[in-house]
Amino acid sequence: MKYNIPRGTFDILPKDSYKWQFVMDSFRKVASRFGYEEITTPIFEVAELFERSSGESSDVVQKEMYRFSDRKERTFALRPEGTAPVVRSYVENHLDVLSSRTKLFYIGPMFRYDRPQAGRYRQFYQYGIEFIGSDNPYYDAEVIAIEMLWLKELGLKNLRLELNSVGCATCAADYEAALREFFRPNLDKLCPDCAKRFDIKPRRLLDCKVPSCKPFRSGAPAQLDYLDAHCKEHFAKVCDTLTAMDIAYTINPSIVRGLDYYTNTAFEVIYDGLGAQNSLAGGGRYNGLIEQIGGKSIPAIGFAGGFERLLIALEQEGIQLGTRPVPDAYLICLGDKARAGIMPYLNALRQKDVYVDYDPDKSSLKALFKAADTSGARFALIVGDSELEAKQVNLKNLQTGEQVSLPLDGGEAVVQVLKS
Ligand code: HAM
Repeated sequence: MKYNIPRGTFDILPKDSYKWQFVMDSFRKVASRFGYEEITTPIFEVAELFERSSGESSDVVQKEMYRFSDRKERTFALRPEGTAPVVRSYVENHLDVLSSRTKLFYIGPMFRYDRPQAGRYRQFYQYGIEFIGSDNPYYDAEVIAIEMLWLKELGLKNLRLELNSVGCATCAADYEAALREFFRPNLDKLCPDCAKRFDIKPRRLLDCKVPSCKPFRSGAPAQLDYLDAHCKEHFAKVCDTLTAMDIAYTINPSIVRGLDYYTNTAFEVIYDGLGAQNSLAGGGRYNGLIEQIGGKSIPAIGFAGGFERLLIALEQEGIQLGTRPVPDAYLICLGDKARAGIMPYLNALRQKDVYVDYDPDKSSLKALFKAADTSGARFALIVGDSELEAKQVNLKNLQTGEQVSLPLDGGEAVVQVLKS
């Protein structure tokens, strides 16, 4: 019997793992520089957490969530996104008591029953940032800066930051009333999803992907024209802070985001080379979410991005993502006595942080030198029965052919040459 990987998922093979490690480590480093600490939540949660938070109008919850019942008939979901779990953990662990500001980041797999294509998978890996504890527009700019500075540092060029405000609950209600007026005359010509969302969340009609719906939204009112004084001022300050940070952006009134919890600032980072799946990352404020899932009324903002899309973009721009590790040395051991006696030495080197490759199944000198070359090691360590007896080891530089004899001590002599 042969088994295949589930559709929309992929293996990260050793030839690519180091690239993933490189970008993940570099995200961890940049987030730490802004004072964010890592949080890891389970990959499944009670399904209701997502239904409550991400909402009724979102495809992510309504159509794409992997739901399952456990043996006690409780309904869980594989997490489709990271914000609701982080907020659940924040509330459950009373993180608000520890500090008025909580800065969190996460990395991990998310699951959506989406139609698989380049840059869109059913299991994909997100990196995310959540700042909880202040409505100050500085923090909107700070979380955006984390993403933009990081992508710049990685060397990515063809990027666009698109910004919008979706207002607070009050101004969103005025805007949605205006949108309903706008769409009402053509309601019978819109797709069934739009017809459903017309009542629940009319702003989602602005990002419907059905081609026949597109013509009906031209000239639709923009949320930015319906912001109340406080939301207008907040948005202006976010824009000013980004400008002061030298972060370029364009205002795009049709950024509405696909999850229901957003308030005020909403943004997406676009990379055009990705075709249809051109959103590298997206996020925004969610000032009502913590209260909605059982916490206090505490403002928050965050974003998440997909590693798959990021890796595609970085490779398109020819950016080198670390290097696949090669051995520091390849151990060539000749003779039964040498093979048995070398074990403590091999362990000693590995304990001294030296990457030594060793293959006990090869015994011919030719095969061993060939394997040493293929491994990419800079040095070969050569030990035969007579060297073992004399407590000596030969260290050969595989690039220059130069060879020195060193004491077979606790590894110190070889380490000194390898690290020099
Ligand atoms: P989202 O826009 O649904 O937001 O997803 C964020 C990013 O995840 C996207 O920009 C994309 O790079 C990646 N992504 C989404 N779906 C897929 C997929 N099927 N395959 C590959 N990559 C995908 C959120 O998830 C929010 N939780 C972001 C957030 C955090 N908002 C506030 N805080």
